[in-house]
Amino acid sequence: MAMPLIPLFIFFFSFSISRGERSGGVGVNYGQLGNNLPPPRISVRLIQSLKAKSVKIYDANAEILEALRNTGIQVSIMLPNELVVNTSTNQTFSDHWIRSNVVPFYPETLIRYLLVGNELISSTGNGTWPHIVPAMRRISHSLKAFHLHKVKVGTPHAIDVLQSSFPPSNGTFRNDIAFHVIKPMLHFLYKTRSFFFVDVYPFFSWASDPVHINLSYTLFESRNITVTDPLTGLIYTNLFDQMVDAVYFAMKRLGYPGIPIFIAETGWPNGGDLDQVGANVHNAATYNRNIVKRLTRKPVLGTPARPGLVLPAFIFSLYNENLKPGLGSERHFGLLYPNGSKVYDIDLSGKTPESELAPIPPAVDYKGKAWCVVAEGANVTAVAAALSYACSQGNGTCDAIQPGNPCFKPDSVTGHADYAFSAYWAQFRRVGGTCFFNGFATQTAKDPSYGSCKFPSVTL
Ligand SMILES: *[C@@H]1O[C@H](CO)[C@@H](O)[C@H](O)[C@H]1NC(C)=O
Ligand SMILES: *[C@@H]1O[C@H](CO)[C@@H](O)[C@H](O)[C@H]1NC(C)=O
Ligand SMILES: *[C@@H]1O[C@H](CO)[C@@H](O)[C@H](O)[C@H]1NC(C)=O
Ligand SMILES: *[C@@H]1O[C@H](CO)[C@@H](O)[C@H](O)[C@H]1NC(C)=O
Ligand SMILES: *[C@@H]1O[C@H](CO)[C@@H](O)[C@H](O)[C@H]1NC(C)=O
Ligand SMILES: *[C@@H]1O[C@H](CO)[C@@H](O)[C@H](O)[C@H]1NC(C)=O
Ligand SMILES: *[C@@H]1O[C@H](CO)[C@@H](O)[C@H](O)[C@H]1NC(C)=O
Ligand SMILES: *[C@@H]1O[C@H](CO)[C@@H](O)[C@H](O)[C@H]1NC(C)=O
Ligand SMILES: *[C@@H]1O[C@H](CO)[C@@H](O)[C@H](O)[C@H]1NC(C)=O
Repeated sequence: MAMPLIPLFIFFFSFSISRGERSGGVGVNYGQLGNNLPPPRISVRLIQSLKAKSVKIYDANAEILEALRNTGIQVSIMLPNELVVNTSTNQTFSDHWIRSNVVPFYPETLIRYLLVGNELISSTGNGTWPHIVPAMRRISHSLKAFHLHKVKVGTPHAIDVLQSSFPPSNGTFRNDIAFHVIKPMLHFLYKTRSFFFVDVYPFFSWASDPVHINLSYTLFESRNITVTDPLTGLIYTNLFDQMVDAVYFAMKRLGYPGIPIFIAETGWPNGGDLDQVGANVHNAATYNRNIVKRLTRKPVLGTPARPGLVLPAFIFSLYNENLKPGLGSERHFGLLYPNGSKVYDIDLSGKTPESELAPIPPAVDYKGKAWCVVAEGANVTAVAAALSYACSQGNGTCDAIQPGNPCFKPDSVTGHADYAFSAYWAQFRRVGGTCFFNGFATQTAKDPSYGSCKFPSVTL
């Protein structure tokens, strides 16, 4: 009866080695949704200057993979969402994709993770969901066929795959995906010894309820606040650990407690719209420095539910990306400005002591009057539609831009929309109206009023 123990021992031994090998520090997400970003070759040098051990990209951009050749940086590439269905239904398609996107760069480019789509459950209709796991299987099969044994297959999820996450032990996957999508996925990840990839943003949880969630707790800065999970007795000192453990308990509920978690994205915005409290350089630096410290600590910290377990992660993101849609914070997650200079000092290896990092500026949130105007470069046709929407909400929002009134001239769509957006925001902000208009609007602290045309404002 001693015999079976030996292979078992070897199994666990090699298992922990391969995890250890993969831990190696914190990586960075290299998103490219900007029209002012440095080329790949320079970006790779910047990634090295941040001391990132790994990088995740959102496609399989050949120029980037070329620039990463022989750098020693581990790489995560992505099969784009729009190819997932083709991949799931066609092994030849999968093989071709691997042959043209992975084979030419391997092994000199250390491709280690292949992510099948991005937040598919959150960003695509339920017609795609049944294709996710079959696509992962086909990709895995192709990798084997090309002898690419070091590449793990996964797919990153947004945290909204959970239906409940509090207390962490109550973590549960959504009903509509738990059994048909997630469970077979967990089985695949277990069999292939891969990771459950998840995007974890304490920032968004805090921003949605800053009254009940303490900012210091969210930034890993609170010394006296703890949250005790009544079911497990586990004690939490920060929101990040809570969120990660909720994912762990959700997997456990489906019968897969042993799958390691990989933080595909986490981060904090260094700026945002004028009314986005908490999105500033101080908090971004605090969050990202603290999380690097935690994730690189020796001995390995883990989380309350899984102490000592390595938690690999990619910080979001390398650059502030000016073409990302959504609120202003979306365009301000970068560790770097597009010109390559650091937004604040940070060392992703965690090896520079806090005292040797440049001090960070105090937190400043904007206080004063604000207006809502047409965003630079907005599509005029779309702005016209937004203008008529803003003016159709009643209560004389657009009286001042009617012929003969003080803001009618100059008679242009953009000029009228500037006024209408400000008037709409001033009137409806209290009841949840936003300065957004599908991204065609932006907040400004500069009063657009002229002559006798006075723009309504909000006071932040
Ligand atoms: C994916 O499959 C669809 C339907 O079979 C096809 O129309 C489309 O051209 C395919 N896409 C690619 C990139 O091959
Ligand atoms: C499968 O993919 C291959 C390679 O892209 C393509 O040539 C072929 O037409 C596809 N087959 C079907 C049935 O779509
Ligand atoms: C898919 O989504 C549609 C629209 O949201 C819904 O009507 C349908 O029931 C869903 N189908 C499944 C299988 O969940
Ligand atoms: C646990 O989650 C369920 C939903 O899945 C929710 O109804 C319940 O209130 C949660 N329990 C606690 C103690 O929050
Ligand atoms: C959050 O906790 C810190 C101490 O960790 C405290 O100074 C601060 O007042 C708390 N904020 C809120 C909103 O409770
Ligand atoms: C933690 O300490 C801060 C001040 O040091 C205090 O304002 C806050 O109320 C305390 N919070 C708790 C939960 O004790
Ligand atoms: C880079 O851009 C930032 C933000 O626009 C600016 O503050 C900084 O001075 C620039 N650095 C250099 C070296 O141009
Ligand atoms: C501008 O918006 C209109 C309506 O939404 C759209 O049809 C058109 O393609 C857009 N033009 C450009 C250049 O994006
Ligand atoms: C219009 O203004 C009146 C009075 O200020 C207010 O009662 C009403 O709710 C407003 N209508 C809308 C659609 O906001």
